[in-house]
Parts: sequence; C-alpha cells; structure tokens
Amino acid sequence: MRGDNRRETWGTKIGLILALAGNAIGIGNFLRFPVQAAQNGGGAFMIPYFVALILMGVPLMWVECAIGRMGGRHGHGHTAGMFGLLWRHRYAKYLGILGLVIPFTIALYYIYITGWTLAYGYFSLTGNYFGVTSREAMGAYLRGFQGVESNQYFSGAGAAYVFFLITLALSMYIIYHGVRGGIETLAKVAMPVLFLIGIALMIRVLTLGTPDLNYPDRNVLNGLGFVWNPQPERLTDASIWLAAAGQIFFTLSIGAGCIPTYASYMREEDDVALTGLSTVSLNELAEVVLGGTIAITAAVVFFGLAETQAIAKGGAFNLGFQALPLIFQQIPLGHLFGALWFLLLFLAAVTSVVALTQPVMALLQDGFGWSRWKATCVLLGGVFIMSQPVIFLLKHGFLDELDFWVGSFGLVLFALIEAILFAWVFGMEHGWAEITKGAAIPVPRLFYYVIKYVTPLFLLFILVAWAIQDVPSKIFMVGVNPEDVPYLWGARLMMIAILVGFGLLVSAAASRKGEGGTR
Ligand code: PHE
Repeated sequence: MRGDNRRETWGTKIGLILALAGNAIGIGNFLRFPVQAAQNGGGAFMIPYFVALILMGVPLMWVECAIGRMGGRHGHGHTAGMFGLLWRHRYAKYLGILGLVIPFTIALYYIYITGWTLAYGYFSLTGNYFGVTSREAMGAYLRGFQGVESNQYFSGAGAAYVFFLITLALSMYIIYHGVRGGIETLAKVAMPVLFLIGIALMIRVLTLGTPDLNYPDRNVLNGLGFVWNPQPERLTDASIWLAAAGQIFFTLSIGAGCIPTYASYMREEDDVALTGLSTVSLNELAEVVLGGTIAITAAVVFFGLAETQAIAKGGAFNLGFQALPLIFQQIPLGHLFGALWFLLLFLAAVTSVVALTQPVMALLQDGFGWSRWKATCVLLGGVFIMSQPVIFLLKHGFLDELDFWVGSFGLVLFALIEAILFAWVFGMEHGWAEITKGAAIPVPRLFYYVIKYVTPLFLLFILVAWAIQDVPSKIFMVGVNPEDVPYLWGARLMMIAILVGFGLLVSAAASRKGEGGTR
C-alpha cells in the first residue's frame, strides 16, 4: 500500500457488527419478506428459506467477509481489486466489476424508496393521509405521490422528489464523514433505535386482539398463521425455492459486493466467523421475528385473510404504504404509530443506502487516491443524474426492470462467480484458512465441504432454474404493455452503460497502480 491515505478501519468490534447489520437489515426485512412468505405458501416458504440460509446465506457471509478482510489488507475496498487476489490473472478484476455495478444500480432506486419512507413518516405526523379511508383511495394516494397518476391528492412527483433530495443529501453527508465517523456512528444509533421501535410495534400488533367482533376470524392468531401455517403441498414447486433463495440474497445483502467492502475496513485481528454469524443472526431476528409479525399480522386483523392475500399479491409497497396507513387511522395514537412505522423503515433503509454507495467510494478512494470530498461529490453527481429516469419513468416499469436484473438475478450470478473463485480458483485450503484465522468461535469443519461443494452447486441450480423459468419471459418482455417497451430498453441500455463505465474505471485504476493491481 503506497501511503497517500492509509485505509480507514472500524473503530470497535460492536461498531463493525452494527454497521454490517445496518447493511443487511433494510426494507427487505420489513416489507419484502412478509410479502414473499405470504405469496409463496406461508409456513411452507420457511423451509426452503432456512435451507437457503444455512447452505448459502451463512457460508457466503463468511466467504464475503473473508474476501473483504483479505482485500483490505492489500488496499482493495471493492471486489474488482479483491478478485485479482483470488485469481492472479489480469481479467480477474473484470469479473469483480459486478460488485460495483450491482450496488450502484440498486442505489439508484433504493434511495428513492427510502425517500418515500421519510415522506410517509412526515405525512403520518401531520395527518396528511388521514381521511383517506378506503384501500382504493389509499392506492390512488400512493400513485399520486409517486407521480404515476395525477389526482386530487397529488399532481406530479414533486413531494416525492423533495424527500428524495433530502435522503440523498443526508446519505452523502454520512458517506462523506467516512467509515468510522459516518457509517459506524450512524449504525451505533440507528440499529438500537430500530430494534426498540420494532419491538414496540410488534407488541402493539400482538395486543390488537379482535377489534371488530363482527369478524371473529380477524384476529392476531390468524394473522400469525398467515405467515407460519405450512402448505406442504407447495414444497415441490420450484418457484418457492427460487423466491426463498432470492429473499436470502437480498436480505443479507449477499452477492452485491457491499459486504466485502465493509469487511475491507476490518482490522487484521477482527474475526470473520463470529462477525459474520452475528450479522446473519441480527438480520434474521429483524426479519423473521419483527418483519414476519408486524405488517402482515396487522393487515389480517383489520382486513381479514382474503383481503390480505389480495394486498400481498399487489406487492410489498401495497402492504407498507396502503394497508398500514389505513390501520393507523383506526387505532389510538395512530399518528405516532404511523410515524414510528415509517421511521423504522427509514432507519433500516438509510443504513443500507450507505452500504450500497460505499463500494464506489472505495473504488474512487483506493483506486484513484481521491480525497473523501472529491469522491463523495462525484458519487453524488452520478447517483443524482442516473436516478432521474428511475423517478420519472416509474410508471413505465423502469425501476422494476433494474430490480429484476441487478436486485434479483445479478445477486445470484455474482455470488456464483465469487463462490467458484474462492473455493476453486483461490482454493478451499487457502479460503478456509482465511475464514478461520483468528476466529472467535469454532467453525464446524462441515462448512469446509459446504462451501466447496454444496454452496456452488446450490447456486448453479438456482441460476439454471431461474434462467429456464423466469429469464426468457423477462428478456422478451412477455406480457409487457407495448407502450413501456422502449423505456425498458432504456433501462437495459443504462445498465450496460454502467457496466462499461465501471469496466473503464477499474481498468484505469489498475493501470494507475501499475497493472495487475494485485499487490
Ligand atoms: N439487504 C438490504 C435489505 O434487506 C438490501 C441490500 C441489498 C442492501 C444488497 C445492500 C446490498 O433491504
């Protein structure tokens, strides 16, 4: 490492774990998870979910932490640089650019959605949506807010845009303050507060009882049963396995390049095994216990089983931004509970936003020796410009197109590349030594074989099944409104441009370091 700026490190072990937890815990835990579970067989979903957690989630968390710590030791904070250590070939770095493309592209829409949570928190406090009392009307309110339609509530995405700007400014402010001063400080406050709010909301939901005695089946137990009652006949359906695996990747932030970047700021004596396991555990606590209870149970208690099914079919945002705001209007202190719910989502989201943008920061700082200020400004400019189509072409499906390719398919593809490089090219002997070095807990030897054989095969299986089942209809835009087709092509062109752009940047950074970049 030549000495322009020595790389930063996390300040404390607990700070490191909370930062990684902040990375993983996000909107995925509180909205995506309950909806995925409800759509994919309830309790039957939990079986493939836990299988994927043990055979891919935990092992890949260790792999990504190990790759990251090793990368940091050699001055690399992004996977393009790190892959050059796993495979000493000059093309290795180009396999790693997905670890920049994926988080950067997710950030383009994740920041906008984070702004929605902030806006709805504000609307809850001010009572802006109070008085909008049917599901249809609340749906119109949301679409108006998003600028998808112009109606009596909103004309255009102006309000959403203002909250987007606030969120973007805030995230960049944190990023600018660095890993320790910004991200770690944020996580140390946001994570404990998030868990406190989550527990408070969970208790509130569990004590809702049976508010409408005309509908005795609309109660808390049926709400919990909605997520947990198994429909075992659905276990043979490949699509629930795909959904479960996809959820594990998204919720743990695995296959995106964000975990290796965070791990690159570990100190040499920080351990991979316990840190990785703690991160997974905190994420699962937030997801399964809090995320699995709050939103869906409340929906069943107030709307009943059939309607909740319909809400879940409408997707994650219908649950969080339509169904729950109706409920807040019916309970005492609804303004407060509404604000708490959206604050919970906001804290979860903003700690993921900084994780999504840090890999690019690492490239600009480590690769080009830029100051934090310069790197932050360039990142801010890039995100700002490329977010515009996401915001203004929302109704044409621009966001969903990005989300499928980078937020679902891309994660699995990148994780497969990473697993093969780690276990087979770098070699499992070396890999295992990295994972267990200085480990604060014993790692069962069984995982040596899991990482070497089971994880890559499982990934391959998921990828092939996906390529057969979903990808062709996606590629050929089956069932897409013809009007939207050019916009979706626009989204694809933008992703290709981002890919090429990072390819050029990585190659420039490598030649600046004197080719290879693998010292
Ligand atoms: N894990 C985050 C969530 O659950 C999303 C995310 C994915 C963050 C990939 C970083 C990288 O919402």
